[in-house]
Amino acid sequence: MKEATKTALRADPLFITAEADANRFNLKCMAVLCALVIVSATLNALGVFTQDMRVMLPCMVICFLAFSQPIAAVLIHDRILGKTPTVLEGPGFKYFILICVYLGIGVVCVMLTHNVVILLTVPALMAAQYRDQKRLLRWTLISTVLLVPVSVYGGYFIGALDRNMLKVVESSEATLENRLRLATPTRMTELLTHYVLPRLLCLIAVDILASGITRRTGKMLDREAALAEKVREEMERRTGMLSRVIEDLAAVIETRDEGTGDHVLRTKAYVGMIARWMQAEDGFRERLSDEYIEEICDAAPLHDVGKIAVSDLILLKPGKLTDEEFEAMKQHTVKGGKMIRNIFSNLEGDAFLKTAEEIAVSHHEKWNGRGYPYGLQGEEIPLPARIMAVADVFDALVSERVYKAPMPPEEALELIVSEGGSHFDPDIIRIVSMHREEVLDASRSPIKQNQLDADGHS
Ligand SMILES: [Fe+2]
Repeated sequence: MKEATKTALRADPLFITAEADANRFNLKCMAVLCALVIVSATLNALGVFTQDMRVMLPCMVICFLAFSQPIAAVLIHDRILGKTPTVLEGPGFKYFILICVYLGIGVVCVMLTHNVVILLTVPALMAAQYRDQKRLLRWTLISTVLLVPVSVYGGYFIGALDRNMLKVVESSEATLENRLRLATPTRMTELLTHYVLPRLLCLIAVDILASGITRRTGKMLDREAALAEKVREEMERRTGMLSRVIEDLAAVIETRDEGTGDHVLRTKAYVGMIARWMQAEDGFRERLSDEYIEEICDAAPLHDVGKIAVSDLILLKPGKLTDEEFEAMKQHTVKGGKMIRNIFSNLEGDAFLKTAEEIAVSHHEKWNGRGYPYGLQGEEIPLPARIMAVADVFDALVSERVYKAPMPPEEALELIVSEGGSHFDPDIIRIVSMHREEVLDASRSPIKQNQLDADGHS
């Protein structure tokens, strides 16, 4: 793989997750090894094992320190100090873990002398958890191979009693003097042929197997990372396209409607503010996640998209609409819903489509069931539409129209509050009343893009 791609993948969350997962797995293995060392020490203290405690104790301490260091690092860094990102995602942490493993395993090998082939395979299997890295694999192979003579000869001279090796019967005879006396060239060669070489062959086989697993895992993760990158790019492209479509549609609505300028932006900002306040309340916290609020804010500018399909004669009529004209005007809700379904069904996920459609169709419904187009009542009206209704009416009241002067915000808010339970959801009105000053401030200040971002996308 090219270096540039590798660098890009290292910054990829999937890559970090893969490394962190391997570190996490290896830490669990180390915890088990640590427990085994403690069990060995306990059995030795109880007299089940007959190891020389002068050798055993320092070995136990070194093992315990080696195995516990990475575990302690995670506990202190992540749990006690609460720092993020987790130390498990650190680029060098795997080397720290593996060095501690080699130290710990090496001491255990010397301590127990034989029956430790399985322990010698542990470092290789732990290294196999990581992605394809030639240097790491080479290092693992060399280190595990070096551990073999260290364990056999180290065990012979300072480690546990081995009756086969020492040809002695009683543990009291396994003194260092006896060991040195019996360390003839013939015995040393015997150790090489009977103990070192079989273990080496066994380990090389395990290492080759582990290397194969690592290489395959690495390639698989590389492919996954490349795929994730492609998906992310595609999502960004689609999100950008969606924003442009919404902006363009909102601009068309503005020019076709009463030319109120920033009605779309203002209502979007109000919707974001109200949704955030609702999110802080117990009754709505579960229903209004951050993602859902973002979706509602994104969909809010499309609430009157159906007006595009309403005749100019009705839409721009300065006087009062006749009953027939009003009926046609009401249709902007249903037509808006259809337009959204047609435009966005191939462009965005079902969740956005549903929210945008709900807002467009139901933002003129009333809590008491006297709204339009379907006369929905209470909680039958979708939540995003109930929020939109408050924002839409409040902004219409405080805005100037060709046929009316703007209403002072205090008066408009009073009117809105008085309609809680009849026109609007009483719970939303209660929450809006709690934030009276913020609503009035927002209505007086010019709408800014950063305010929209803060309200809708934080
Ligand atoms: Fe409308």
